[in-house]
Amino acid sequence: MNPTPGHVLRNRTAWDQWAADYAAAGLRSWSAAEPSWGIWGVAEQQLGILPADLDGVDSVELGCGTGYVSAWLARRGARPVGLDNSAAQLATARRLQEQFGLHFPLIQASAEQAPFADSTFGLAISEYGASNWCDPYIWIPEAARLLRPGGQLIFLVNAVQLILTVPEEYDLPATERLLRPFFGMHRFQWLGTDSVEFHIGHGDMIRLLRACGFEVQDLIEIQPPPGATTRHPIATLEWARQWPCEEVWKARKQS
Ligand SMILES: C[S@@+](CC[C@H](N)C(=O)[O-])C[C@H]1O[C@@H](n2cnc3c(N)ncnc32)[C@H](O)[C@@H]1O
Repeated sequence: MNPTPGHVLRNRTAWDQWAADYAAAGLRSWSAAEPSWGIWGVAEQQLGILPADLDGVDSVELGCGTGYVSAWLARRGARPVGLDNSAAQLATARRLQEQFGLHFPLIQASAEQAPFADSTFGLAISEYGASNWCDPYIWIPEAARLLRPGGQLIFLVNAVQLILTVPEEYDLPATERLLRPFFGMHRFQWLGTDSVEFHIGHGDMIRLLRACGFEVQDLIEIQPPPGATTRHPIATLEWARQWPCEEVWKARKQS
C-alpha cells in the first residue's frame, strides 16, 4: 500500500475539525423527502442528476460526509456504500443512520485508494467529496477501476468560473474579475486553511475522463432559482444567477 499523500492527511484533519459544523445540514438533508443539490439546494426535479432507475444498483459515494446522498439513493432502491476520509464525518453519518433507521456500509478510506475490488459498482457519485478534495488524476482513474462497464460516474464540483474569480482568502465571495490564470489550474490552497482542493479546466477534465474509458454524457451548470438561499458565503445569489458557481459532470464507463 502506498503512503498516504500529504493532501489527504491535511484534508482529514480539516474535515475532522469542520465535521461538527456540518451535522445540522446533514440532518436537514437526511430529512428531505426529495434530493436537492449543491450549496443552493437546487431540486433534483429541476436538475435531473440521478439515474431514473436506481433499483438494485450498487453505488459508492466517494467522500460521503454525513451520508445523505447515499441515504437518498437507498430510498430509491440502490445498495449504497459510503466512503469518507474523515472519522468525524462518518461518526455523524452513523448517528444519522441510527436516527433514520437506514443503514448501509460506511468505510473510512481515501477515494484515491478505495478498498474495493475492480468492477464492484454500477454508480459512483460525489457531491463536493472526492470531486473537490482529491487529485482528479488519481481519483477519477480509481473511480473507473471501481465501476463495471456501463457504470455511471456523477460528480458535483465548484464551477471553473467560480474558481477563477474567488479571492485568495478562504470562503470569500466570487468577484467579477478573473483573479488567476485558467491554464495550469489543478491544486489550490486558499489562505486561512491548511486544506487542499483540486480543480481543473473543462478541456483537461474531458480528456481525463476519456483517457479513463468514460464517455462524457453531460455537464450541467447549476443556476439557482430566484430567491434561493445558501449558508455558504462563496457566491452571492446575484453572482450565481449570472455565472455557474457549481457544475455536475455525468460520464459512463464504456463497455
Ligand atoms: C463537503 S463534504 C461532502 C459531503 C456532502 N455531500 C456535503 O456536501 O456535505 C466533503 C467530504 O469529502 C471528504 N474527503 C476529503 N478528502 C477525501 C478523500 N481523500 N477521500 C474520501 N473523502 C474525502 C471529507 O472528509 C468530507 O466529508
